[in-house]
Amino acid sequence: MNFLLSEEHEMIRKMVRDFAKNEVEPTAAERDEEERFDMEIFRKMADLGLTGIPFPEEYGGIGSDYLAYCIAVEELSRVCASTGVTLSAHTSLASWPIYKYGTEEQKQKYLVPLAQGTSIGGYGLTEPGSGSDAGGMRTTAKLDGDHYVLNGSKIFITNGGIANIYVVFAVTDPSSKHKGTSAFIIESGFEGFSVGKKEKKLGIRSSPTTEIIFEDCRVPVENMLGAEGEGFKIAMTTLDGGRNGIAAQAVGIAQGALDAAVGYAKERVQFGKPIAAQQGVSFKLADMATSVEASRLLTYQAAWRESENLSYGKESAMSKLFAGDTAMKVTTEAVQVFGGYGYTKDYPVERYMRDAKITQIYEGTQEIQRLVISRMLTK
Ligand code: CAA
Repeated sequence: MNFLLSEEHEMIRKMVRDFAKNEVEPTAAERDEEERFDMEIFRKMADLGLTGIPFPEEYGGIGSDYLAYCIAVEELSRVCASTGVTLSAHTSLASWPIYKYGTEEQKQKYLVPLAQGTSIGGYGLTEPGSGSDAGGMRTTAKLDGDHYVLNGSKIFITNGGIANIYVVFAVTDPSSKHKGTSAFIIESGFEGFSVGKKEKKLGIRSSPTTEIIFEDCRVPVENMLGAEGEGFKIAMTTLDGGRNGIAAQAVGIAQGALDAAVGYAKERVQFGKPIAAQQGVSFKLADMATSVEASRLLTYQAAWRESENLSYGKESAMSKLFAGDTAMKVTTEAVQVFGGYGYTKDYPVERYMRDAKITQIYEGTQEIQRLVISRMLTK
């Protein structure tokens, strides 16, 4: 067993770290304040090949693997969790299902521009009445000649409004819950597609989250992804990988907060010595660092399993569960280390704490991760 990253992985980490420091971090607080997505940052990520890390070159990717992708999400999230989730949703939730289930035509038409970063991807599963119970969706897709006609709406869509390609799930057979769901590739320009309300959020504020609406939206039959009735399985297997992307985001957020807390604790003098030299703070830092490292190991393990074509659903649920809770705990402790200053916007730790919360909610709440893990243990 070898815990050292390969030269390729170290190279990707260095490249993304430099990019994050020079191009993403300087505007992170401002974009958070203004709830502003920056297309220029996405374009630069595309130029570096980050938008297609795990996909083969023939489909516009750079032919690396899921570990490299997780390292990239981690490094971006270390300075800006919004940028991390933009890449994560784009890669795991939109590009991946097309890579895995798409026909050759669909891959050429949609995966290539997604992986090259000339398109942005989104994923539409959640509805106002169906969150954790994903199988309870109401959006319908009815066959009409050579088109499916979609009606309904999806909410909390990461990359909503900025994405031009969405993988969306709808009911094609209402008499059958899971086997009556199908997946579709939707272009934002399709007739009957529109973007609805943009959410005002606690955290990840420079990543747009919107509703997407289907009003007699006509989707060519060739845009069905996988077979009719296969949608629920496609949604679930997509989330199996997506959850590890969120774990990587959580590791990045937690590491960013830890770095800030260690730096501050070494500088801040109280009672005649740096607070880092006082046990109340130093033990806190030790616990924070230990949790971050354990989260990273779980996340890298799940990514490695996916790259090696081993099962990874349970491991991804575990990494998301552990890393999400770690991010929340570590960022809260980072604010505590900073004391009153941590509660202000003069330092980044309050933003890290706000950003961390969503990692316990999206791509399945922590409670759903426990359900997934326990079902796999006992099945
Ligand atoms: N892989 C393959 N098949 C799977 C599967 C998986 N991981 N999970 C379930 N299935 C299959 C089952 O085998 C079963 O198939 P059969 O009928 O052939 O036996 C079928 O799907 C139904 O499975 P369940 O009975 O387990 O389904 P359920 O209704 O109990 O729901 C659930 C399971 C895990 C709770 C699921 O509803 C779930 O994951 N909910 C959470 C939804 C979620 O994560 N939403 C996130 C939204 S996206 C997002 O957040 C994006 C973002 O902003 C970044």
